Amino acid sequence: MSDYPEGGPEPGRSVAAVRAVFETSAQSPQVGASEADKAEAAESVPRETAARAEGVENANPAPYGDQPPQAQAPQAHETGSADQADTPIAAAAAAVVRLSHPEPYPRPSATRRMTVANQKGGVGKTTSAVNLAAALAIHGLRVLLIDLDPQGNASTALDVPHHSGVPSVYEALIDGVPLEDTAVPVAALPGLVCVPATIDLAGAEIELVSMVARESRLKRALDAYLRGRVDAGDPVDYVLVDCPPSLGLLTVNALVAAVEVLIPIQCEYYALEGLGQLLRNVDLVRGHLNADLEISTILLTMYDGRTKLAEQVAGEVREHFGPAVLRSVIPRSVRLSEAPSYGQSILTYDPGSPGALSYVDAARELADRGAEPQPRSGAEGEL
Ligand SMILES: Nc1ncnc2c1ncn2[C@@H]1O[C@H](COP(=O)(O)OP(=O)(O)OP(=O)(O)O)[C@@H](O)[C@H]1O
Ligand SMILES: [Mg+2]
Repeated sequence: MSDYPEGGPEPGRSVAAVRAVFETSAQSPQVGASEADKAEAAESVPRETAARAEGVENANPAPYGDQPPQAQAPQAHETGSADQADTPIAAAAAAVVRLSHPEPYPRPSATRRMTVANQKGGVGKTTSAVNLAAALAIHGLRVLLIDLDPQGNASTALDVPHHSGVPSVYEALIDGVPLEDTAVPVAALPGLVCVPATIDLAGAEIELVSMVARESRLKRALDAYLRGRVDAGDPVDYVLVDCPPSLGLLTVNALVAAVEVLIPIQCEYYALEGLGQLLRNVDLVRGHLNADLEISTILLTMYDGRTKLAEQVAGEVREHFGPAVLRSVIPRSVRLSEAPSYGQSILTYDPGSPGALSYVDAARELADRGAEPQPRSGAEGEL
């Protein structure tokens, strides 16, 4: 399908090169995130807290990047904490207490349909989809998570059966099985329902090619499911679709079914490579198939506060995407990577960990944004 080129990082493009592209972008009205935003973002990932998660004793930044360490200004997050608590342990304890009596997050006026996409592999799409969904559900919202990746990682992370033969998103896409016949309540997280992905989905990219309305099959299934939930008096607040690391027909289906795109960006050297291709694909889908689609949310993931590079990447992303970038930043944390092997979200696996705190913060921001009209992001133009 020539309109939707298969993705893959564009070779040989450095962060600086991508920045140059960003800077010459025809539409970047939000360029220049305020220092307050940056300071707030930094504060949401206390350096000492992130370091604790990794068992690192010396949380000072490594001499990494252009500036010598002594030339760096003091960081807001060296003294602050997302929880306003005095120590990381106090913050963690406070978070656990809060999660045992969670305050309800604001409900959006209509279902928010969000696709979590980035054709780059391993940037935290699944981790973010699962843990944001869990955080929203714990705080009283009704959430549907659709696993649209044949790897089935989101299904695994929520302990939802997804062996071959289980009714899954594949049957919904290819055989027209209603989504409600595939959706499974997540036992540990009331309010969260998951449509699993089985390995059968690996063949769907090819099977879809010759099908009628091949780009909008997920949208049709989702529309019908959401109508059914409204009729049953149990409307869904958030739909999150976890995409595979490609820009093929599965991801196109997710982009057509959604209204918002959430892009997780890993705070590492190659983070921005290939992003232009994703943005062009979003533009193509908006132009031909889904005029409502917008990149509403960028989430910085795997932030390592000890490196200058993470800060630089975060700065570049904020410069280009402006208010679409969540202030909350997800730290690199071993606990986050452990949780899926126990079939748990981080919120049940280790609710006091920095990873859990950061996903709760990010979900809160998402929910707050959903309750009020948002300025458009600076990510709508061609790159
Ligand atoms: N903040 C984090 N800190 C440490 N490890 C993380 C973090 N986020 C994700 N990981 C780990 O990094 C790996 C990739 O994460 P994840 O599966 O969420 O990425 P993905 O974008 O969904 O990957 P894929 O493109 O293969 O679907 C996983 O092993 C995950 O546990
Ligand atoms: Mg994934």
